[in-house]
Amino acid sequence: MVETGDAYLIRDAKGKHRTIASGNKTIATSIDTQILPADAHGTGIAADLLAQGQIVAFGTETVYGLGADATNGLAVAAIYATKGRPSFNPLIVHVADLDAAMALIDLPESLRPLTAHWPGPLTLVAPIRPDTGIASLVTAGLPTLAVRIPANPGAQALLRATGKPIAAPSANTSGQISPSRAAHVAADLGGKIAAILDTGPCTVGLESTIIGADTRGPVLLRPGGLSRESAEATLGTPLLARADATITAPGQLASHYAPNAALRLDVTAPQNPATHIAFGPGPGAWNLSPTADLAEAAANLFDLLHQADATGAAQITIAPIPHHGLGAAINDRLTRAAAPKP
Ligand code: TXA
Ligand code: MG
Repeated sequence: MVETGDAYLIRDAKGKHRTIASGNKTIATSIDTQILPADAHGTGIAADLLAQGQIVAFGTETVYGLGADATNGLAVAAIYATKGRPSFNPLIVHVADLDAAMALIDLPESLRPLTAHWPGPLTLVAPIRPDTGIASLVTAGLPTLAVRIPANPGAQALLRATGKPIAAPSANTSGQISPSRAAHVAADLGGKIAAILDTGPCTVGLESTIIGADTRGPVLLRPGGLSRESAEATLGTPLLARADATITAPGQLASHYAPNAALRLDVTAPQNPATHIAFGPGPGAWNLSPTADLAEAAANLFDLLHQADATGAAQITIAPIPHHGLGAAINDRLTRAAAPKP
């Protein structure tokens, strides 16, 4: 413990986690962020950290991503906490090769030619296969998954070393510009993440192009590093605009997961515990987190909403969730899910 006035610094046994406290109040916690070279040793450490559920930033040819094991709901929740994202947008999952991508998604015929652009600055959105183990927080409860095979050699080596699908949004605090160098990530998120794998400067420097499909054919969901012209040349047809024109901001999907049941929020004394989702101790058929842990609640959110909805109940009630930290994104999503359907 190091005293500095009335604030002091506590390090944990391994010296990794620091807490800045005053009296018995925690002011801030931080961890030592390792900046790892993208050689075999550094890549191995980064892969081990990911396997342990830690957050590791790594470069792709588009931008640096904030990576977590996509099959670990708590690790994915930590991505949102680290970015300070006020809402749960679905995340892109990164894999090393086409076999790994095809194991996750059922790619419609109309999108297949585009796999010629993989590895590269392209993300494809398609129905997720059953039993992939992808945490429901990754898709934000949607039946589709966004998948990308990055070309950057460091990213490729990391994905091969982990052997796991890695969920990664751009490695910046919400509202900041996307990082194209390890130093940008260190300046923004140093002290908040376990490690940054320095895979060099991003050669594209612009996020991936996102393409999905509806019944009409391939749809451009986000312009990016792969030009519309090259995608269209590969397809031999123009890319369509998305049908739902109600998107107000990037990442604001109109196709958000919405349960069939009517949701009532902030219910402290449920009339019917059999259709109640609790948070912390208390009655309820489901519990987002018996210990009132917001990361655990985030990790469980979409699974429990789906489970409760699958009972066919006309109404589901949910306990109040605190608004701080990850609670902001949880409440954002619950408010949308509870809004009257259009
Ligand atoms: O270049 C990139 O794409 C970078 C690197 C790290 O791969 N990643 C990135 O992620 O830009 P992010 O989280 O900042 O943006 C992901 C976008 C969001 O706008 C999200 O709405 C969209 O992907 N997305 C993810 N899953 C989707 C889905 N199932 N349907 C439609 N859009 C989806
Ligand atoms: Mg972003």
